[in-house]
Amino acid sequence: MEFTKTLLVTGGAGFIGSHVVRRLVINYPEYLILNIDKLTYAGNLNNLKDIENKSNYKFFQIDITDKKAIDEIFKLYSVDGVIHLAAESHVDRSISNPDEFILTNVVGTLHLLNACKSSWSDFNGKCFYHISTDEVYGSLGDDGLFTEETSYDPRSPYSASKASSDHIVRAYGHTYNLPIKISNCSNNYGSFQFPEKLIPLMINNIKNKKSLPIYGKGENVRDWLWVVDHAIAIDLIYHEGVIGETYNIGGHNEWKNVDLVHLLCDVMDEKLHRPIGDSRKLITYVKDRAGHDMRYAIDASKIKNELGWEPSVTFEEGLRSTVDWYLSNEKWLDDVTSGAYQRYYKEHYSQ
Ligand code: NAD
Ligand code: DAU
Repeated sequence: MEFTKTLLVTGGAGFIGSHVVRRLVINYPEYLILNIDKLTYAGNLNNLKDIENKSNYKFFQIDITDKKAIDEIFKLYSVDGVIHLAAESHVDRSISNPDEFILTNVVGTLHLLNACKSSWSDFNGKCFYHISTDEVYGSLGDDGLFTEETSYDPRSPYSASKASSDHIVRAYGHTYNLPIKISNCSNNYGSFQFPEKLIPLMINNIKNKKSLPIYGKGENVRDWLWVVDHAIAIDLIYHEGVIGETYNIGGHNEWKNVDLVHLLCDVMDEKLHRPIGDSRKLITYVKDRAGHDMRYAIDASKIKNELGWEPSVTFEEGLRSTVDWYLSNEKWLDDVTSGAYQRYYKEHYSQ
């Protein structure tokens, strides 16, 4: 079959990437979707079992820090667009091992930009879309929201690496007229999220009656968005967003960590037929994350007003469906929490 477009997604075997790839493969059978992913501890081809045999989908195990391999893919395929999600994404890991974050998130992004710049003879109909985070804006006090105009103030090695890559992407847009787009999103949750992140870690621990480690006093605030709504926003921005523009994506859904863990405990108690209140007893306050940002919250009015995007589910609905997914995908959870995860968990949480 002749495809009308070839779209390269990076990091498509990860949490958000797998939702993006699935959506594109199913909704755009006329596109060829190439997924390139290193398959780090966070990448998992089991996240894409349902679409792996589709005729408009191809997977390549490639490290984006490998310039030769990236150039090779751009020689093999006439790529029209890139949706770039590949990254080291966990803040705690960036504190203990920053080097990997600079290599993948900064240098890897540079290789992709250079491949686009040198292989695109004209930029007509082309697009390099960089997926980024609200953490580039720093930390908020009690009031205010991050807008697209908020100055950058990254404070962890992870957010600094993402801020660096955002700046490089914009610099390529400004200097070489490369057709770029960027979006900065708040905290995602949903199926296929690796259980190093707050929500799936707590679900797994509640399920196994293990202690629930809350950093510091649990008063830090995050703005949570269902991953499918992020994937919908990415699809919309790729197809209808304006070249050169940045879009903030968020859930208007702020939660203090401790309140969120309480809610999760109660939902899980109900689903597991345990007395309500039982799982809350597992909460343990542990040493705070170094440089822990206090509050993130997104003003998503630009994407709402210009592209008509809004979250499609309430937090309660999204969270319940997420809990259901983890409870009915025990094998997936057991696989990703064996071996290396146990070593990571012990090392990180024994400190
Ligand atoms: P994730 O850690 O679940 O997945 C990252 C994917 O990138 C994995 O499949 C991994 O194998 C791949 N990868 C890592 N290094 C690579 C390399 N060198 N070469 C090729 N592939 C590599 O991350 P996620 O939560 O799905 O985040 C995806 C993107 O979205 C990241 O860029 C992240 O910064 C951004 N983001 C995440 C959130 C969130 O809440 N999770 C919010 C906003 C933005
Ligand atoms: O805001 C977007 C960002 O959200 C993304 O760019 C990152 O890739 C993603 O990992 C996420 O970063 P956070 O650091 O906010 O997410 P995390 O799930 O690690 O932590 C959420 C909050 O919960 C944070 O305040 C730290 C706290 N926490 C986390 C863990 C893992 C705990 O209290 N205990 C824990 O065990």
